[in-house]
Amino acid sequence: MTRSYRFPEGFLWGAATSAYQIEGSPLADGAGPSIWQRFAGTPGMMANGDTGDVACDHYRRYKQDVQLMKALGLHSYRFSVNWARVLPEGTGRVNPKGLDFYSRLVDELLEHGIAPNLTLFHWDLPAALDDRGGWLNRDSAHWFAEYAEVMFKALDGRVQRWATINEPWVVTDGGYLHGALAPGHRNKYEAPIAAHNLMRASGAGIQAYRAHGRHEIGVVFNIEPKYPHSQAPEDLAAARRAHAYMNEQFADPALLGSYPPELKEIFGEAWPDFPEDDFRLTRQPVDFVGINYYTRAVVRHDAAQYPLQATPVRQVGKTYTETGWEVHEQGLLDTLTWFKQRYGDIPLYITENGSAFYDPPVVEGERLDDPLRQDYLRRHLRAARKAIDAGVDLRGYYAWSLLDNLEWSLGFSKRFGLYHVDFATQRRTPKATAALYAQVIASHGAALDE
Ligand code: BGC
Repeated sequence: MTRSYRFPEGFLWGAATSAYQIEGSPLADGAGPSIWQRFAGTPGMMANGDTGDVACDHYRRYKQDVQLMKALGLHSYRFSVNWARVLPEGTGRVNPKGLDFYSRLVDELLEHGIAPNLTLFHWDLPAALDDRGGWLNRDSAHWFAEYAEVMFKALDGRVQRWATINEPWVVTDGGYLHGALAPGHRNKYEAPIAAHNLMRASGAGIQAYRAHGRHEIGVVFNIEPKYPHSQAPEDLAAARRAHAYMNEQFADPALLGSYPPELKEIFGEAWPDFPEDDFRLTRQPVDFVGINYYTRAVVRHDAAQYPLQATPVRQVGKTYTETGWEVHEQGLLDTLTWFKQRYGDIPLYITENGSAFYDPPVVEGERLDDPLRQDYLRRHLRAARKAIDAGVDLRGYYAWSLLDNLEWSLGFSKRFGLYHVDFATQRRTPKATAALYAQVIASHGAALDE
């Protein structure tokens, strides 16, 4: 053996999902519609016409799914709440039955010794709030804080780790700039406003937590490091812009109380001068930051790309996943060390990491070999362990995802699960990666030794 990958005592091993991607039954028990339910129901928005109407039917099968977590030996489960189940109109009236679903899920987890890690917003905004302008409305910060307070009062104590917003970049890039995700807008003027209000909402949620909660709260960013294709000044500048746009646009207001100057350059006249006072709200002390890492990008200058003027360059001789993402575990190590260097010693969790690969058929209803996904997991866990050696305060890892699920507008075509789901029968089958992950957990990482 040349290298040991044993993780420190207390390192938290988990898996993650999100509400719209797995629950199904979107309108059950008095829930209001969400923007995702609306978007998926609009012809032409989703691959193969897929929707989250049934998805993994987790709303009804959650007990069985907790058994799957138990079989992996998970310490923690990261999931999100569909806001419109709890507040069907987004604000005001609370729907006790919707709240009760999450309360029962939390009890089931605790009964099996699995610590809940609850994300308040993973993209499924109540449709009623979108009708009032959604994230373009400055009141959205107050709407979010009101909803967050309902959740804190109901579950804090049983839930000891909370996150406000998942991946604000995806919400604004997909939902407001390029339109591939709900609510499907394509507007350069809207994107920075939605982004800013999301970070105000996150701050308002954290403030509400300080008044009503007693445990930990943080925020979750997807970080994708950007490397220049060449050392030419225009490629270096393109990589800087791409990094500022995707990574710093969200982490900076939350943790530094400012925006990087490149954003004004990118958005030009569409970049508003936000009131200085807003940064007092966006910058709230967090107990941790969650980092979702999937891939990196190597970028070059490209004047035709609106508005970034940067484009990714495909790398020769590298493995790409089914979502077109390069497997590049060094990027995870670089991300974690960059984060520490820029934002200081904040406790970090990898709140998502995983890969979609083409999966062969299930053998005899009980096995599925997925060597590429196993390789991806191994590489990224080793990189995570190296980050700890490099001094990063990394406290846990959540695999994306527990189950194959609805990959947003790509529908069910991309499978990220540790468990295969047959969407016709709802049968769950562990992939070989699930077995590997269970070994890693049981051995505190020693199964990764080489
Ligand atoms: C999201 C998940 C998504 C995953 C894979 C992240 O952007 O938080 O909801 O399924 O990546 O694309």
